[in-house]
Amino acid sequence: MALSRGELRFVGGVAAVCTLGAWAWWVEKGGGEEALRALARITARVGFLFFAGAFFGASLRRLRPHPVTHWLVAHRRMLGLSFATVHATHMAAIGALALQGAPLGVAPLSIGWLALLFVAIMAATSNDASQRWLGAAWGRLHTVGGYLVAYVFGLSFLSAAGQSIVAAGELALLGAGLFCRFSARGTPILVLGSCLSCCTVGAEPADRSAVPEHPSGSDAVIDQTHLEPDMAQAASADHPYGRAHPAAAPQLEQFAFLVGDFDCHERIRRESGAVLAFRARWRGRYILGGFGIQDEYWTARVFATSVRVFDPAADTWVVDFVRMPGYATSSWRGRQRGDRMVMRRPESEQDGPTFSHITADGFEWHSGGGDPSWTSSCRRRAVGEDGPNPR
Ligand code: HEM
Repeated sequence: MALSRGELRFVGGVAAVCTLGAWAWWVEKGGGEEALRALARITARVGFLFFAGAFFGASLRRLRPHPVTHWLVAHRRMLGLSFATVHATHMAAIGALALQGAPLGVAPLSIGWLALLFVAIMAATSNDASQRWLGAAWGRLHTVGGYLVAYVFGLSFLSAAGQSIVAAGELALLGAGLFCRFSARGTPILVLGSCLSCCTVGAEPADRSAVPEHPSGSDAVIDQTHLEPDMAQAASADHPYGRAHPAAAPQLEQFAFLVGDFDCHERIRRESGAVLAFRARWRGRYILGGFGIQDEYWTARVFATSVRVFDPAADTWVVDFVRMPGYATSSWRGRQRGDRMVMRRPESEQDGPTFSHITADGFEWHSGGGDPSWTSSCRRRAVGEDGPNPR
């Protein structure tokens, strides 16, 4: 997502604090080797906090949807760029150490430099244009780079943990973050487990080849009555909107901003210029065992719902919409484009319904081209605000 003005100010502020702080430190401490080493340590440790927010935020939100985790995801580009900025100061300190001929033996050199190269490439490609240009490779680049940086952090904290409680704490934080990331995305065992349950529980799989063959004859019975229905991701007291399945496609995150309750202001504008303004409620929740998202929409007169699933084979979102009364239904395909979610009719080249201005607090929606033009401006309801129980 493009950085907002506030986020740009934040990254600029981090850069200014780093530059001025490093300069003040340098002058204050006389620029000696120990001072530079301390500066390298401080910048690495502060940078780690930004890195952790950017790299683990989405997984944390999957495990625990909450305003804080929504915030982390909504601002992850800002956090990633702040990490790169702080790390530039880390490298400046190391450059100064090298100029003094001091030994640089702490970070395992080759992997440290490689990780650094990734940090630079990731920072340079943290913009919509690069994301569009690189397509699926963008995600792979940032995932591999992220794990590489996490690895170097792990090694550095491990070697310092004996002498520093802060390094030991950050090592524990890194371990917890990685654990969350693996749990949220599904370890190979979880993925295998979920595939097996898809194949065996009997929930109408799209791929018929996944249905187990009868051993012999059409009247043979496969007894799987010992398998419990998997309702782990269903709505509960702790998770009123359900949860994403750990083995769901990572792209499910892209629509997770819809999970929750929203108050919306609607405007329908006809080509004639006439405008109809009214209010609506929008509510999204995880469905299909945590592999999809359904949103419901209420106005005074019209009610609608959409089921949203990501089809990894076609690398596209599939959205099925139904409206009542006055039955109407439509099907859409879509993807994330920069900071927007853009849907089209399967056979069309024209953009249709589009979500934009997505933040932790709400979103905007537009019906796309054509007459009438319909817009929604939605604000997230605070937890506990009056309204029907989402369960
Ligand atoms: C993305 C890549 C890198 C990461 C994530 C990273 C991370 C860290 C961390 C976490 C520390 C603090 C360790 C502690 O708590 O004591 C540190 C310190 C340091 N790093 Fe890096 N580093 C990276 C790249 C490099 C490179 C390429 C060098 C060059 C040789 C380097 C040289 C140093 C030095 C000299 C220190 C100060 C250690 C001391 O004497 O206390 N780092 N780094």
